[in-house]
Amino acid sequence: MLKGISIAIDGPAAAGKSTIAKRIAQKLHYTYIDTGAMYRALTHKAIQSDIDMDSDNDLADLLMDTEILLVPEKGGQAVWIDGIDCSEEIRSQLVTGAVSKVASHPTVRKMMVDKQRALANDSGVVMDGRDIGTEVLPNADLKIFMTASVDERAERRFQENEKRGIHSSLESLKEDIERRDRADSEREVSPLKKAADAILVDTTSMSIDDVVDKVIELAEMRMER
Ligand code: CDP
Ligand code: CDP
Repeated sequence: MLKGISIAIDGPAAAGKSTIAKRIAQKLHYTYIDTGAMYRALTHKAIQSDIDMDSDNDLADLLMDTEILLVPEKGGQAVWIDGIDCSEEIRSQLVTGAVSKVASHPTVRKMMVDKQRALANDSGVVMDGRDIGTEVLPNADLKIFMTASVDERAERRFQENEKRGIHSSLESLKEDIERRDRADSEREVSPLKKAADAILVDTTSMSIDDVVDKVIELAEMRMER
C-alpha cells in the first residue's frame, strides 16, 4: 500500500485547479479541500449580513460566528454555511466580484489557514487555492502551479457558465479573471505566486484527462520516494 501524500495545487483563476484536484482526490481516495470555496463562503455571508468588506476585524468576527462545512459528495464537494447548502450561491457574480477583497485581509487569512491546516490529514489530501504551496502546506509532498493562457481560461469559464445556463460575455469574463489575478498576485499577505519547489503545469492545450494523467504520474513518483 502506497502512503497518502499531500498535494498542493495553486494557480490563477479558471486554470482548472478544482476540476483536476477533485478528479485526483477521487482516483486516489484522498480528501479534497477547495480553499477558494471557504473564502467564497465568508464573502457570501458578509454580503448577506451587510458587513463592511474593508474591515478585517468585522470579517474576522463574522468568520468566528460562521460554520463553513466542505461536505464531500459524488464527483465533488458541497459547501454548507450555518447548516444550509450554499454551493450554488457562493459562485454568484456578486460573490466572485468581492471575494478577492475579503481574501486580502490578514486576520481573515490567518483564521482560514488555521482551518485549512486542521482539515488536512495524514491519509492523503489534495488542496487547491492560491497560497497552499507557499503558506498552508509549505511541506506538501507535491506542489503544482497550474496555469493556462488568459484567453483559454476565459473561454473555459464561458463554456462552464453556458452549461449552467448563465449567459455572460467572453470579454467580461476575461476582465474579471484579469482583475482577480492582479488583486490576488499584488496583495501583501500570501500573494498568489509559484512556490520555488512547485512544478509548473501549463494546461493551455491540455484536456482534463491529460492534466489528470500528468498530476497522477507526478504523485506516483512522490509516493515511491
Ligand atoms: O475557482 P476560481 O478561480 O474562480 O476561484 P476560487 O478558487 O474559488 O477562489 C476565489 C478567490 O478566493 C480567489 O480569487 C482569491 O481571491 C481567494 N483565494 C485565496 O485568496 N486563497 C486561496 N487559498 C483560495 C482562494
Ligand atoms: O479551480 P479553477 O478556477 O482553477 O478552475 P476550474 O473551475 O477547475 O476549471 C474551469 C473550467 O475549465 C471548468 O469548466 C473545467 O471543466 C474546464 N477545464 C478545461 O476545459 N480543461 C482543463 N484542462 C481544465 C479545466
